[in-house]
Amino acid sequence: MDHPKHSSLGLHLTFLSLLLACVVYLCIWLSSSSLINPLFSFQKHDVDCTAQTPIAAVTTTTEFNVVEDELETILAKASMDNKSVIIAVINKAYAVQDVKADTTMLDLFIESFWQGEGTRTLVNHLVLVAVDQIAYDRCMFQRLNCYRLETDGVDFGGEKLYMSEDFIKMMWRRTWLLLEVLKRGYSFVFTDTDVLWLRDPFTKLSKNETEDLQISTDMFFGDPWNISQLINTGFYYIRSNNKTIALFDRWYTSKDNATGLKEQDVLLNLIRGGIVDELGLRVRFLDTLYFSGFCQDSKDFEQVSTVHANCCRSIVAKVMDLKAILGDWKRFKKFMSHKRSSGTSTRRFQWTGHFGCLNSWAVPNNSGSNS
Ligand SMILES: *[C@@H]1O[C@H](CO)[C@@H](O)[C@H](O)[C@H]1NC(C)=O
Ligand SMILES: *[C@@H]1O[C@H](CO)[C@@H](O)[C@H](O)[C@H]1NC(C)=O
Ligand SMILES: *[C@@H]1O[C@H](CO)[C@@H](O)[C@H](O)[C@H]1NC(C)=O
Ligand SMILES: *[C@@H]1O[C@H](CO)[C@@H](O)[C@H](O)[C@H]1NC(C)=O
Ligand SMILES: *[C@@H]1O[C@H](CO)[C@@H](O)[C@H](O)[C@H]1NC(C)=O
Ligand SMILES: *[C@@H]1O[C@H](CO)[C@@H](O)[C@H](O)[C@H]1NC(C)=O
Repeated sequence: MDHPKHSSLGLHLTFLSLLLACVVYLCIWLSSSSLINPLFSFQKHDVDCTAQTPIAAVTTTTEFNVVEDELETILAKASMDNKSVIIAVINKAYAVQDVKADTTMLDLFIESFWQGEGTRTLVNHLVLVAVDQIAYDRCMFQRLNCYRLETDGVDFGGEKLYMSEDFIKMMWRRTWLLLEVLKRGYSFVFTDTDVLWLRDPFTKLSKNETEDLQISTDMFFGDPWNISQLINTGFYYIRSNNKTIALFDRWYTSKDNATGLKEQDVLLNLIRGGIVDELGLRVRFLDTLYFSGFCQDSKDFEQVSTVHANCCRSIVAKVMDLKAILGDWKRFKKFMSHKRSSGTSTRRFQWTGHFGCLNSWAVPNNSGSNS
């Protein structure tokens, strides 16, 4: 108020920038509305403000060549400040309750973000990629960030038993999408939905930007750089850069030359075949102490970040055993909150056995367990 000249100048500037913002907004809206119209049609009312500036709107439309599509919109919305997102793929069998079931894999997965330490806000950065319409509807119903991955000719709705032909197709389709995400400059944590998030994994992942890929293992043998580790593509963090794009490009293009191989095995073969050195990649293999699974439990409740229902064959078995894990975790948290003296040991905490999964391997190949 002491400087009327400045404030009136400021007022002008404010007005101008508001006007500009309005124009930019209109451009973005115009370029995206044809694709995402059902979601954003309510914004139409806001456009009136640009009615007096048709010329400006026209000129900026040509200047701002915004190529906006649904994937970009969702990635931008879910992204952290450092252009990282969390990606998971769901299908009907993971998202909707079976007749006899009282929960789903997706529900357990989301529940773990609630029960975990420092994981609640991470749901905002989670993009769920739905491979069928029902999974997409369920995702939207839960008000999550959902992306519908279209595929020609294949219905990805049913449970894909391990290594069936459709299972492999689905895996390749998601590899294609992930390559696309990297190309758009987003780094991401990929997580299967049969992974429980008990602690914020970013606190356990290396922050060193020279590490291109940090990937979980079925069993960890002590050396995070030894490429003979048994990798598991169910959980990894990958930075977007030329080298990782080249890696995923090679991974995806080898799909036609990989009959009978699961996409994970193809990546494993690429790594064993020396692609890490060839592309100059730095790949860290993650310790099961933090990023654990049913193949090898984490040894420490105080360190564990994720628990993956690997070494398991059917959804029913995974859900059963993951429920037990969540129960273990809740007991651990309760114990910790009641703990008075810091000397009390948490060593007596043991994971419940993964009996459903142990038995799942005895079931004949063609009996879908969600039938
Ligand atoms: C990205 O940002 C999030 C939120 O600020 C942080 O928790 C995470 O550690 C960051 N990721 C990396 C790799 O730095
Ligand atoms: C990242 O790792 C490289 C290679 O080990 C090392 O030279 C560099 O100092 C590390 N950077 C940071 C910030 O720790
Ligand atoms: C990697 O691990 C394997 C098996 O544990 C071992 O035989 C090999 O010598 C290790 N390689 C290096 C470079 O340490
Ligand atoms: C990736 O490669 C392109 C062309 O080869 C280059 O212009 C760009 O700077 C590279 N980006 C990074 C992050 O290295
Ligand atoms: C396809 O696989 C064969 C046998 O493993 C290999 O010799 C050949 O180089 C591969 N071709 C391509 C294009 O990767
Ligand atoms: C299931 O399929 C795998 C490979 O397709 C085969 O090795 C195994 O023997 C089959 N198991 C049963 C019980 O048919």
